[in-house]
Amino acid sequence: MLMLLLMNQIIEQLNQDHRRLVKVLYRLDNEIKTLGGMLTGKGNMEAVVDMLDYIQTYPELNHHRLEDEICRLLKKKEWVDGDILEEVEDKHELLELLAENVHYHMDSAIKDSAINEGAANTVRFLRAVKEYIKYQLKHMEYEQKHLFPMAEKYLTEEDWQFLQILLREDYSELAESRLLKYSRIYQQLIADISPIAAT
Ligand SMILES: [Fe+2]
Ligand SMILES: [Fe+2]
Repeated sequence: MLMLLLMNQIIEQLNQDHRRLVKVLYRLDNEIKTLGGMLTGKGNMEAVVDMLDYIQTYPELNHHRLEDEICRLLKKKEWVDGDILEEVEDKHELLELLAENVHYHMDSAIKDSAINEGAANTVRFLRAVKEYIKYQLKHMEYEQKHLFPMAEKYLTEEDWQFLQILLREDYSELAESRLLKYSRIYQQLIADISPIAAT
């Protein structure tokens, strides 16, 4: 009973993080298309920078740590499909590299003064962001389809208790104020998608 409660709480937390990230990624994709001239309107570079900051910093508060610990615990179990864990860990590394690539091209694009359609650095920056969005969306879908069900199937009550302790540590005063900060940023970022979208 306790195990089910802890498991549902932690998996729901991870799924909620994904839902939030997906919403921001879609909004970012729209903004990128506007900046690239594929959609009408004037793109907002400031919003793009804020969204990039959110999607790269928020998961570092505890999402990635929790997933890495889940992989570590699952590796110790018999009958677990190691390919799935390898795929998740490989993608975490790849996403870090893609994020670095985005920042590199963002700096060059900003140095070029205004982001303008057609400028080589702008094109590279927009392409890097698109690549990041594509892999991040695929990765989250993969985790929901494979990693989370595997954790639900194989982790024990002791494992979930351990993960719960980690979560609590992250919610210590300092982390909590950062979580609140990112929660506020999230609300602002998605404010213009839909008034009920902020879940
Ligand atoms: Fe992940
Ligand atoms: Fe994830």
